[in-house]
Amino acid sequence: MMLPWLDNARPLYLAPMAGVTDSVFRRLCKEHGTDVLVTEFVSADGILHRNQRTQEMLIFRDEERPIGVQLFGAEPERLAEAAKSVRDWVRPDFIDLNFGCPVNKVVSKHGGSALLKDCPLLERVASAVVKAVEPLPVTAKIRLGWSSETINATTTATILQEAGISAIAVHGRTKEQGYSGVADWEAIAQVAEIVSIPVIGNGDLRNINQIVSRLVSTKVRGLMIGRAAMTSPWLFRRAKHFLRTGELIAEPSIEERWRHILRHCRMAVAEADSERHAMTAMRGRLMAYSKGMPGGCTLRADLQTVSSVTQVEAISERHLEEVASVSASGDNSEIIHLGNGTPAARSMPLQAANY
Ligand SMILES: Cc1cc2nc3c(=O)[nH]c(=O)nc-3n(C[C@H](O)[C@H](O)[C@H](O)COP(=O)(O)O)c2cc1C
Repeated sequence: MMLPWLDNARPLYLAPMAGVTDSVFRRLCKEHGTDVLVTEFVSADGILHRNQRTQEMLIFRDEERPIGVQLFGAEPERLAEAAKSVRDWVRPDFIDLNFGCPVNKVVSKHGGSALLKDCPLLERVASAVVKAVEPLPVTAKIRLGWSSETINATTTATILQEAGISAIAVHGRTKEQGYSGVADWEAIAQVAEIVSIPVIGNGDLRNINQIVSRLVSTKVRGLMIGRAAMTSPWLFRRAKHFLRTGELIAEPSIEERWRHILRHCRMAVAEADSERHAMTAMRGRLMAYSKGMPGGCTLRADLQTVSSVTQVEAISERHLEEVASVSASGDNSEIIHLGNGTPAARSMPLQAANY
């Protein structure tokens, strides 16, 4: 199946993150240069039961395209039925299947990463969904395996390819690791060597250095960025600019960061039933945004209790006064290393063929 955003390009995806990558955040990331979006994971059962909250999670705007709806579940027929409903209701650009979620509530029902240790069921789920929604492309997101003793990503990726899956995102950790340890990019690279469908690499991409070096040193056809986007959604734009021109654009200044944060708050409130509810839900997001800001400790303590946009505005004004003398706009310390360990001359454009 065709995924036109992968033709002659190595796109940057925003990783699906439950409770984080809602439509507001996806739109903000898109403005900051994300190429491909995926919804938070959505339960196939929730779709079949016409659960209201589930239906809300499927809503996206046209400007979010290309976008995939990520589904989780364990029963081939139910997932296939849910995928058809999603296709008919919201017409996404692709369906993505979650085979990586490590959360007990999901794996205890044989969903998410539990399917990585049941290859026959994995194959049946993938085939059923592919057939149900043809010609809409179906992609999958996997981890390396269930545990370090049972790493099987090359096997599961091959099974998925044969089942008609169009592209696979590989998070370089096992289910047992959760989010601990580090992503194993050699294992991701191996998957990209073995299958012929596009592999999207995922795990611990935090800066331009890492983004460039993963593109240079592996055959992945795209990259997926999760937690770093929660702190620095502008990473997409900065990375793409560097890949295009070989030049670095500065990190946003503290003022620009606050403008972004306040905009995020206002957009979240505009789409919620109540400001208090929206802002309580924003607290975690504010924690992520405050990472790396000067005076982060006090800032985080303040942000942890907000329940209105006015409070965040007041905190931002106070913070800007406190750090008036500190400018975060310079980014001169950032040196980009190519795959061979050589720092890139900032003025030397990287040729597309090099990565
Ligand atoms: C808060 C949170 C929620 C997540 N929710 C999902 C999800 O719904 N579906 C999914 O496939 N992965 C989910 N993930 C995993 C991410 O998509 C990604 O694979 C992981 O964070 C590693 O990438 P990173 O190092 O760039 O963050 C979630 C991760 C986090 C931190």
